[in-house]
Amino acid sequence: MLIMDNIDSTVRKIDGYSLELAKKLISGGSLVAFPTETVYGLGANAYSDDAIKAIYDAKNRPLDNPLIVHVHKDYDITELVFDNDIAKKIREKFCPGPITLVYNSKNKVSPLVSCGLSTLAIRIPSHESAQKFLEYVDLPIAAPSANVSKHTSPVTALHVFEDFKDNVPLILDGGRCDGGIESTVVDVTGDYPVILRKGLVTAEDIKAVVGKCEYANDDSSLKARSPGMKYLHYAPKVQTVLFARDDLENAIAFYKQTEIDGKKPVFMCEDKISQKLDGYNVLNLGASGAQMANRLYYLLHEGEKIADIIIGIELDITDEILLGVNNRFLKAFGK
Ligand code: TXA
Ligand code: MG
Repeated sequence: MLIMDNIDSTVRKIDGYSLELAKKLISGGSLVAFPTETVYGLGANAYSDDAIKAIYDAKNRPLDNPLIVHVHKDYDITELVFDNDIAKKIREKFCPGPITLVYNSKNKVSPLVSCGLSTLAIRIPSHESAQKFLEYVDLPIAAPSANVSKHTSPVTALHVFEDFKDNVPLILDGGRCDGGIESTVVDVTGDYPVILRKGLVTAEDIKAVVGKCEYANDDSSLKARSPGMKYLHYAPKVQTVLFARDDLENAIAFYKQTEIDGKKPVFMCEDKISQKLDGYNVLNLGASGAQMANRLYYLLHEGEKIADIIIGIELDITDEILLGVNNRFLKAFGK
């Protein structure tokens, strides 16, 4: 693991000093990374074109993949977007929390945030430190996940530091993120909510509140509605190979061959499978959807530190949260 001298001045616990520093940096157009209950975000002043450009530059992010604006729980979102009844009901139930709503924009923030779309995505994170940061800076903060584009999303402050080093002047450290995968992105501009990116809040959860909710299909027109979904994502820096659940024998043979070739392999699989892999190195994702969400990115980061190749075994989709986990899992394995 690479730990540079300047980590002590970049990664800071959240206190009066670091919040004041965060405010100064954000007002000056700089970037500040901060924890949320899903993953760490790389924040900048949503009103400033230059600050938003700095996010795209630091991440090496394609310019047609729009950003989510983060606000504190008492922020009046009608400053930025047109609200509606469906959105209100969803917010009452799930916000603050791991959900992002896509509204019709009032075009108040930098046009670079939404890449010229007429909509704007807003999230109210529940993480205590995120709330403190957003209240203290008192500005809408555009923030993608705080990873270099295509790499695995960060769930600790150290993951952020490892990706950006000196390029991000301040990383607020709020410990490891509980949720573990990015927020559910829901388009609330139509007659009923449509989930553009799966996450911890599921279609069933939303249906229970507003009666109807659908997942966007994977066809290209809907992909264009959530532009970020078309890119390669979440990949660790080491080789990855995926095996079917009923192909465990071949997966084990592959693991052994990798060792013979002088490389360090590790399996990544759910708890049920790991019980059949006694004696091998295993990154155990756990059992429930929530547990696997919590562990997925953390273990992908571990995997790239301890192994040369991660051998994944396909997941068994036993609950709805696993739809979101599996989406990231497959992308991490290049599928
Ligand atoms: O949990 C999260 O959502 C994290 C934390 C930091 O809040 N953020 C995050 O941001 O995952 P990012 O940039 O990695 O992903 C943003 C997603 C992309 O899939 C993007 O296409 C979609 O949100 N998005 C943003 N604005 C949109 C819009 N106006 N219409 C449709 N999709 C939008
Ligand atoms: Mg991301």
